[in-house]
Amino acid sequence: MRFAAVLAVLLSAASVPALAQASEAPIVSPVLLTDEAHDPWTFAEPEVARVTHVALDLTLDFAGKAVRGKATLDVQAAAGADKVVLDSEGLQISQVADGEGAPLAFTLGEAVEGKGTPLEIAIVPADVAGTRRIVVEYFASEAAALQWLSPEQTAGGEHPFLLSQGQPTLNRTWIPTQDSPGIRQTWEARIVAPEPLEVVMSGLRQGEPEDLGDGTRAFLFVMDKPVAPYLIAIAAGDIAFRELGPRTGVWAEPEVLDAAAAELADTEKMVEAAEALYGPYRWGRYDMIVLPPAFPYGGMENPVMTFLTPTFIAGDKSLVGLVAHELAHSWSGNLVTNANWADSWLNEGVTSYFENRILEALYGTRRASQEAALSFAEIEKVLAEKGADHPVTALHLPLAEATPEGGESGIVYDKGAAFMRTVETIVGRERFDAWLRQWFDNHAFQPATSAMLLADMRTNLVKGDAALAEKLKLEQWIYEPGLPDNVARPAASAFAEVDAAAAQYATSHFVDPEHWAGWTTAERLRLLAKLPRELSAEQLGELDVNLGLSRSGNAEILFAWLELALGNRYEPAVPVAEEFLAEVGRRKFVQPLFQVLMDDAEWGQPIAWRIYAETRPGYHSVTQGSVDAVVRPSV
Ligand code: BES
Ligand code: ZN
Repeated sequence: MRFAAVLAVLLSAASVPALAQASEAPIVSPVLLTDEAHDPWTFAEPEVARVTHVALDLTLDFAGKAVRGKATLDVQAAAGADKVVLDSEGLQISQVADGEGAPLAFTLGEAVEGKGTPLEIAIVPADVAGTRRIVVEYFASEAAALQWLSPEQTAGGEHPFLLSQGQPTLNRTWIPTQDSPGIRQTWEARIVAPEPLEVVMSGLRQGEPEDLGDGTRAFLFVMDKPVAPYLIAIAAGDIAFRELGPRTGVWAEPEVLDAAAAELADTEKMVEAAEALYGPYRWGRYDMIVLPPAFPYGGMENPVMTFLTPTFIAGDKSLVGLVAHELAHSWSGNLVTNANWADSWLNEGVTSYFENRILEALYGTRRASQEAALSFAEIEKVLAEKGADHPVTALHLPLAEATPEGGESGIVYDKGAAFMRTVETIVGRERFDAWLRQWFDNHAFQPATSAMLLADMRTNLVKGDAALAEKLKLEQWIYEPGLPDNVARPAASAFAEVDAAAAQYATSHFVDPEHWAGWTTAERLRLLAKLPRELSAEQLGELDVNLGLSRSGNAEILFAWLELALGNRYEPAVPVAEEFLAEVGRRKFVQPLFQVLMDDAEWGQPIAWRIYAETRPGYHSVTQGSVDAVVRPSV
């Protein structure tokens, strides 16, 4: 939407309360007041009163699996505003006060599934807009964002571990704030943790921890750039730091640190490559933490401290696309942020494209085009499964299809990347890169919507060229399901050799181990994806022995193998899967393995129930939720 149009909406919309117009300066960016930006997964009313800064003062209680303390919020209130609405879920609030300590009345409203409970705090209205301070004292036990790991779930086996996952809507389970990606906040934190644990957060650590003399230490953190609140993250454990470059480094348990640092040795180069593509890295340091394997995602782009699963450590850097991805989010996602989750593709799709460009810069076009081809095959798979007219295959998800996780499939990632690649192919790389760079620069630290990106492409890329506009099919790409016919397809040559080997397998039932040994991880994954879905125990046994699949140290390959093997009732895979599922909590692996077992009522379901009864307590709530939906008791 053009600015004039935004203004018109602002002035006419009945949903904008008179008090917002009465104040001199609007307290939220006008974009947020458009229908398209409206976030249905928050109770916040930022046009009335919006949180601008969060100061946490929290103590970690590992025995009680709880955090307790207070959150001091700076709130910008419009003239006439008489309340501030925050998001909360399961928080026990003991008191709310103003900056001087005078109590403020508050109510916890009715809980709404997927949204939590609104926390309404009364404030005294003022004639003009202004800043207020609000102090919430609270206690969060068994918060869904937080995972409290037992020592057995760590590599060291001696100390407990805490990790958080905020995206998309989980931070309201441990932080009372306005938990919507369009409402950016600066923040700081003081965290008290038992010795000898170290604490890291998605903000810069200030100085050395303070010894409190009672077996605990206090750590200070600051994030002085406004970020979406889902990006506040914490981890605590027996971890150590290793420098990788002038502004890059890695935290991990000491047992894992060597392997982690070796796998991540190219990180500084990745940051340099990303900057050369799309402008300066604006966050200061880029550090990472390699978490215990229970972490529910592959990676999470927490600012200045990317969170990583250890399952990307393959020993040969073949899975560091994950790091390129999380790094790329420092531009697409953390700098320019989807205003709500129906536009997740603005975060994940643009990032997946950017990820591939970083890989190309570091490792060359062959590797980049192979990974792009794997991603493209995922689009084809989803379209085949769901149908090319299924609304969930649009980039901008219609509300009925949108989930805060960006829909049910990988479409926002893979189709989003294909869209960017298609535009790049049509307008040429130089022009495309200049456009994307200005998109990041001109929307830095701002929320964005599909309509904004579309308008920006028209203004700064198409520039009135009608023929070009027709070629690009921008609207179809963004708003319609399926794949437009102008899509830039990956070169067929990317997997020529391995595709031939897969085709040959159909008749020979043999994969040459020497060929396999020479293939890249992407090629191996391609082969496993292309093998016939139905195989006999004998054929599977031969593949396993020849290619060493059950012993693969590469988690992606092991996962692809287990999915294939369990889908064919291959008994020897069961103990291997059991061990994997007991250790790894990454949802992308765990959920499909349980799904393939549950799809087989007679053979698989009893195995799934037996394993899940053992492994469920070790999973993060994110993984538990997804697997609970799959592993249901028989009726
Ligand atoms: N931001 C996502 C993780 C996420 C998405 C968390 C949606 C909650 C809701 C992260 O950047 C991501 O995409 N991780 C992927 C890895 C990537 C290489 C595709 C993952 O975890 O597998
Ligand atoms: Zn991502």
